[in-house]
Amino acid sequence: MLKLGDPYRNVITAVIFAFVLHVGLASAAPDHLNPPNDLRCEYLRDPVGIDVRAPRFSWVLGFDDRGETQTGYQILVASRRSLLDQDRGDLWDTGKVASEEINQIAYRGTTLASGQSYYWKVRSWNRGGAASPYSRPATFELGLLSRDEWKGQWIGGGHELRKDWKLPAGVVRARAYVTALGYCELHINGRRIGHNVLDPAFTLYPKRVLYSTYDVTAALHEGDNSVGAMLGGGWATLSPPGSFKGYYSSPALLIQLNVELEGGRQMSLASDSTWKAADGPIVEDSVYDGEVYDARKETEGWDEPNFDDSSWRAVTVTSGTSGAISAESMPPIRVIGEIAPVSISNPRPGTYVFDMGQNMSGWVRLRVRGPAGTRIQLRFAEVLHHDGMINTDSIRAAKSRDIYLLRGGDTEIYQPRFTYHGFRYVELTGYPGAPALDSVRGEVVHTDVDSVGGFSASNQILNQLHKLIVWSELTNLVGIPTDCDQRDERQGWMGDAQVTGEEAIMNFDMAAFYTNFIRDIHDEQGDDGTVTDTVPLRYGSRPADPAWGTAYVQLTWYMWQYYGDKRALEENYDGVKRYVEFLRTRAPGNLLSYSYYGDWVSILHTPGDFVSACYYYLDVELLARMADALGRTGDAQTYHQLAGEIKDAVNHKYLDPATGGYANDTQTANALALGVRLVADKSRGGVTGNLVDDIVYRHDTHLTTGFIGAKFVLPVLSEAGRSDLAYELATQTTYPSWGYMIGQGATTLWELWQNKTGPSMNSQDHAMFGSIGAWLYQTLAGIQMADGSAAYRHLAIVPQMVEDLRSASGSIDTLRGTVASAWSREPGRISMEVTIPAGSDARIVIPRDDQMTRVAVQESGRQVWSEGHYAAGDPGISGATLNQHGDVVVEAGSGHYSFVLTGE
Ligand code: BGC
Repeated sequence: MLKLGDPYRNVITAVIFAFVLHVGLASAAPDHLNPPNDLRCEYLRDPVGIDVRAPRFSWVLGFDDRGETQTGYQILVASRRSLLDQDRGDLWDTGKVASEEINQIAYRGTTLASGQSYYWKVRSWNRGGAASPYSRPATFELGLLSRDEWKGQWIGGGHELRKDWKLPAGVVRARAYVTALGYCELHINGRRIGHNVLDPAFTLYPKRVLYSTYDVTAALHEGDNSVGAMLGGGWATLSPPGSFKGYYSSPALLIQLNVELEGGRQMSLASDSTWKAADGPIVEDSVYDGEVYDARKETEGWDEPNFDDSSWRAVTVTSGTSGAISAESMPPIRVIGEIAPVSISNPRPGTYVFDMGQNMSGWVRLRVRGPAGTRIQLRFAEVLHHDGMINTDSIRAAKSRDIYLLRGGDTEIYQPRFTYHGFRYVELTGYPGAPALDSVRGEVVHTDVDSVGGFSASNQILNQLHKLIVWSELTNLVGIPTDCDQRDERQGWMGDAQVTGEEAIMNFDMAAFYTNFIRDIHDEQGDDGTVTDTVPLRYGSRPADPAWGTAYVQLTWYMWQYYGDKRALEENYDGVKRYVEFLRTRAPGNLLSYSYYGDWVSILHTPGDFVSACYYYLDVELLARMADALGRTGDAQTYHQLAGEIKDAVNHKYLDPATGGYANDTQTANALALGVRLVADKSRGGVTGNLVDDIVYRHDTHLTTGFIGAKFVLPVLSEAGRSDLAYELATQTTYPSWGYMIGQGATTLWELWQNKTGPSMNSQDHAMFGSIGAWLYQTLAGIQMADGSAAYRHLAIVPQMVEDLRSASGSIDTLRGTVASAWSREPGRISMEVTIPAGSDARIVIPRDDQMTRVAVQESGRQVWSEGHYAAGDPGISGATLNQHGDVVVEAGSGHYSFVLTGE
């Protein structure tokens, strides 16, 4: 990035700028340029309470013209909105920076302070040198940057905690900083604050706990105030099956309210021994087992001022955690939507079963009226028995039930706070009278990531599959990426996280979420470089199975690849290197061979030592590329060389010259070797041939893989020119296949290819087989990044128009703006709509149908290709050629393009 900094340059720039402005005004008036939009700071829009000292900015260019890009930007950061309105950045004024960068721009102004709000805006210069107007102002606010600023003590001793607080007149600004070992809900003056649920998100509490920041200015007033919190155990106190015990025996709260009064006076209230505690109405709470709530124990006004708390006890002060208290700089967990049940049945007297029509994560909101003390039980399940009763086998040992004891009197509404369930069916017992369909409402709960992707096609199985993937992914984003949402597990299994990473990134805005999860992985890393099967480690082993541990390497790499996040590389480079060096100690002769799960849940077994050896290669190769990206040339050379040696060792040991396949020649063995790029060019054809033969002839176009292999089979087939076969697998409807799950009525993806019920592993909601979701975008819609490009700067739009597929369309809202590709075809004619965001460019392949000759391409009515030649003149397009298949390849800048290819 070239920064014009010194005084001379500034003068020259000013002169050039004035000239450009003048010329710009004379020719194309710059004020027709739209300003940058979608301003973000640390990936979040107007974040409140981030704890990064040099936050990074990004924006999307507003330039509509084709072939547009940014040639310069100017950012202003101000301490007051009024300054920004006068185009003054008292804290940081970058001046015009000649740069095409539109994201990952780190703040370098005057030091920022804890708890302060800041205002910023940006303008961009376009290709012709004209400046856009400034964007609308955006804000960001810091939380508490250092641990010393937390003045309070960790307190617990009840489900409800409270404290009265007197304030003078003139509160101008107030913030609450809240964290818990467990879950907490903040109440001020009789009102619940914020919409976060199951907050803070699950972390390795002894190392790091997350806090949320709330603007509570409007909730406080002069005179008596009351601050209260409801507290639950969450993951902090829960003991999963196996040898893992809860981190703490009871939950604890740490809170601080900072208030600014007129005249600049500051006051604060923090949790300490003077707070009072009571049990409240929550009798029991557990993530796995659910909540028991006795509404008769509610105390009216407990969170309001002047409440008589003389019967409340003193809180218990605990040592809490000495780990970092870090801002929850990712979307919180929230109630995202409601689902009305589709039916209600009455399989036994007094037992009612609601069908939500969709397997979901969350809980139900109950509406009921009846005598005080009536005990209502809600139990949750994913499937039914033949007799219509719920089948809880897939929930395993989790009790997954909520019990509500009525207050009595008017209609009561209840939903739990400190638990969640994975379910489609709800069993209701103990209801006074007969419930109606609207006696329960589903509330869908998960991390509130934005949806960024859209996919549809002319094949209904693909559309349903996409829907299943989206549901499975979302219901498994609950603070961390979980394996499942229903049983006594719900852990951050790293194998599941690594295979679904790209799919998740294409469907959702995962940048802030993965930034946090990668920190969790880093927190869990051992001094010996090991990482763990689950993060936080609550299940499985240390060291992780290599096909699980690779999540550290791959997710870090994806942050760079998809978001251009160099900071993620910088922060994790040493950790990734230490992990790779640990693997190296276990890899005599460059072959890593320890493995526990390998190609988990496969139909045909592939040797685990081979799977591990492949991931060792991939991890070393990605580390080498990280070193390249960071300019660490020595390391880059070392690890590229090591990767080469591993490749030779794996090929020597596992590539069988007799069969031409890897290891035991399974689909997973060959697809994995191809997918991680272990296969020498000369062997690719043969290995692909083995894979194809196995799929087609030995298994009648079915997969035999587990979830490790399933990520690779379709992409490697497409890469080898066999998207037709990949498509047949994607749309297969007989066992084992995604279509089979759909045909059996799945609304989320299963853990096993089998439709199995029984008390073992048969979750109906595992995201891992959803890794195919990335292939839908990359291959059928054809949205890819050009080789070596990061963060969608250079695109390759290469849709595969296969078999009976008549149309497909995909769009991804990237950090640079929307990338979209939609095509449809009819005999003799192919239409393609492509959107490339300003600041990016693309090579667009417009495939011809095999039988077409003499193809011609028009774009919005203008010739682009005709009579075997590129026809210049269409704005935004700089060239067109034919590739070896006779497809027309167009070089395009940004813009929206409507292509029509015709042929004879
Ligand atoms: C989880 C998986 C996980 C596996 C590890 C299972 O119990 O649900 O998805 O990756 O264990 O083997």
